[in-house]
Amino acid sequence: MLTRSIRKNDIVADLVVESPALARVFESFGINYCCEGNKPLADTAYEKGIDVDALIVMLNVGATGPSDRTVVNPASLSTPELIEHIVDSHHAYLRRELPRLVELTRKVASSHGDEDSRLYEVADTMAHLAAELRSHLETEENELFPALTRGADDGRCSDDNCARDAGDGGGVQTTMVGQLIAEHRETANALERLRTATDEFTLPDWACNTYRAMLAALEEFDEDTRAHMHLENNALFPRIAR
Ligand SMILES: [Fe+2]
Ligand SMILES: [Fe+2]
Repeated sequence: MLTRSIRKNDIVADLVVESPALARVFESFGINYCCEGNKPLADTAYEKGIDVDALIVMLNVGATGPSDRTVVNPASLSTPELIEHIVDSHHAYLRRELPRLVELTRKVASSHGDEDSRLYEVADTMAHLAAELRSHLETEENELFPALTRGADDGRCSDDNCARDAGDGGGVQTTMVGQLIAEHRETANALERLRTATDEFTLPDWACNTYRAMLAALEEFDEDTRAHMHLENNALFPRIAR
C-alpha cells in the first residue's frame, strides 16, 4: 500500500515494489514494469505517448482501490521468505500451466491456423518459451536460490545485501544473475510477440471454446510471468547485485 503521492520522477519498478497492486495499472497501459522499469514515470509515459498526469491519476486509483490479485509486498519479506514465495507461487504456477499452454496453443493452431496464420507463431513461441522457462527455473532453484538461502541462514549477508559478501561465490552469483536477467528480457520479448499475435488477447468472432480457453490461459500467463520477473529483477536480485 502506497502512503504518499506519486510523483513524475518516481521510478516505475520502485513503485511496483512499494505497491504491487500498481502492476495491473501499468499492464493496462502496456508498460513493461518488470524488465524496463528502471526509468522515471515521466519518461515512460512520454515513450508510450501517454499523458503522465492521467497515468498518475490512474495509479493513485490503483494504489488505493481493491485488487482481486493476491499481492505480496516483497519489502516485508526476508530473502528466504521471498524465495519461498517465488517458488511456491510463480514456479509452481509455471510447472502446472506450461504443459497446458503448449497443448492449447498447438491444438488451436492445428484447427484454426488456416483462418489466422499467426496462430502457428503463437504455438511455436509458446513451445520454445516453455522449454526456456523450464531450464530457467532449474537454474534458479538448483543453483542460485539455495546459495542465497544458505548465505542468509549463515548470517554471511543481511537481507539488504545478501551474497554480496559471500566470498568468491558472490562473483559467481552476480554473473548468474546477469544471465537470468538477460533471459527475463528474452521472455518479455516473447510475451510481447504473443500479445501482438493475439491482438492483445482479443477473441475473434469465430472463436471456439478451445480458442477462448487458450486466450484466457495466455493472458493469465502474461500477467503472472510479468509479476514473477518483476519480483526477481526489482526485489530479489538487487539484494545481490547492488
Ligand atoms: Fe523465477
Ligand atoms: Fe527468473
